[in-house]
Amino acid sequence: MHMPHQSSAASRDPASLHSPNTAHLDLIDLHRKHGPLVRTAPHVVSVADSAMIPLIYGATEKFKKPAFYPIQCISWRKQPAMNLFSTRDPEQHRVEKRKVGAAYSLGNLLAMEDQIDSCTRLFCDRMEEANKSPIDLGAWLQYYAFNVVGEPTFSQKLGFLEGGQDVDGMMKAIEGMLAYASMCGQVPWWHNVLLGNPLLTKLAPAMEHWNQVLIFTLKAINSRTELQRDGELNDAAEQGADMLSRWHNVKSTDPLKMTTRDIIVHLSTNNHEAMAKMRAEIDEADGKGLLTHPIRYKEVTAHLPYFCAVLKEAMRLNPSVGLIMERHVPPQGANICGKEIPGGTIVGINPWVLNYDESLFERPESFEPSRWIDGTKEELQGREHILSLNFGAGARGCIGKHTSLIEMHKILPEMYRRFDVKLVRPDEPWKTTNHWFVQQEGLICTLAPRAQH
Ligand code: HEM
Repeated sequence: MHMPHQSSAASRDPASLHSPNTAHLDLIDLHRKHGPLVRTAPHVVSVADSAMIPLIYGATEKFKKPAFYPIQCISWRKQPAMNLFSTRDPEQHRVEKRKVGAAYSLGNLLAMEDQIDSCTRLFCDRMEEANKSPIDLGAWLQYYAFNVVGEPTFSQKLGFLEGGQDVDGMMKAIEGMLAYASMCGQVPWWHNVLLGNPLLTKLAPAMEHWNQVLIFTLKAINSRTELQRDGELNDAAEQGADMLSRWHNVKSTDPLKMTTRDIIVHLSTNNHEAMAKMRAEIDEADGKGLLTHPIRYKEVTAHLPYFCAVLKEAMRLNPSVGLIMERHVPPQGANICGKEIPGGTIVGINPWVLNYDESLFERPESFEPSRWIDGTKEELQGREHILSLNFGAGARGCIGKHTSLIEMHKILPEMYRRFDVKLVRPDEPWKTTNHWFVQQEGLICTLAPRAQH
């Protein structure tokens, strides 16, 4: 099976060039042609050099987020309410992160693994019910991802997997927000006359009721509060182990939750051999009794090295973020790739560009899980370092990284252990759209339960 996005300009329809939907692919081509610095707009420079990651995205946040980010916030009581993701103010960021950060650590999340397992069971049950009829696996994995985020946060299922559908238009709303940001973010002052226009709240006093992310979160908090009142909380909530309990004093909504659409995208594999090898590894570990039901995270990292390599390779080929992660050069300017770049210039790295850089990954267009296994310790660490930019870096790196990685490490091997997954139209490439995050559509599959599992 080969489900690549078309990956170089030469192989693509010229009409698709320079459309925002393929901006990530165009940028790969531009860097291959012009080198590590490409000026994409008068004051915007795309950087393709992994050595610049610490400078641009360092822990001390010398390069601050520009106006692209604050337009991605919700409104609360008719005012823009900056969240952890959208704020440009390092002090607000520090305070917000201190409030919620610990809950997202690997250790704390793994302490709630039983709750994630209940979502995995529900997902597998729903797949069995589908009874080999074609389903949109991309959508179902996204429902799983939403339910998993809900479990440790609210100690309850949010209804995505149960209903097999988007709940309260939440997924659509996030897609819309990202699409808006991807376009308006290129010319952020447009935001002042569009959704950021204060007149809008006067014209439409209930503006925040349009905000599905907010409505959804408030509903989840309310319903959790009702369960508490009625004494129907599950164990984690009883013990105060869910995130809501940890955040006891949280008054505003949770920061922007990006979906783990990467799970979906990461299913792209064109290699029957890799699939067979991965399946054999899972079956062998299963046969030796090394895997519980559902599979635990640590079992996967300990006993399924080839699966882990497949996952990394899929993440390399399909990073979620498809635009440069913009930052302002500080007022005094900076030397970037040997060039003096003036203060105020917007610079940034697009993970797609590094992941497809021939000097970093040989045959970058090719799906080769072995690159995550073969090599010296230094080489492997170097590759991991580059891949980690998929989740950003430094002070503003992704807070949901462990949540997403745990999900992917659990649901995917469990799914392959229990089902034969087949694409309904294996020759059709999937369609991807770059709206800040690169999202695919059309992962229509059948899942046939495997007899022995
Ligand atoms: C595969 C899934 C995910 C990917 C690939 C991803 C990727 C990223 C990236 C690249 C950034 C940095 C953006 C930048 O610097 O411009 C980021 C930041 C962030 N992500 Fe994620 N993310 C994922 C899942 C999640 C989840 C599940 C959550 C919430 C539970 C989340 C919450 C956040 C937050 C709050 C920030 C801002 C952190 C800060 O500024 O301190 N993400 N994410």
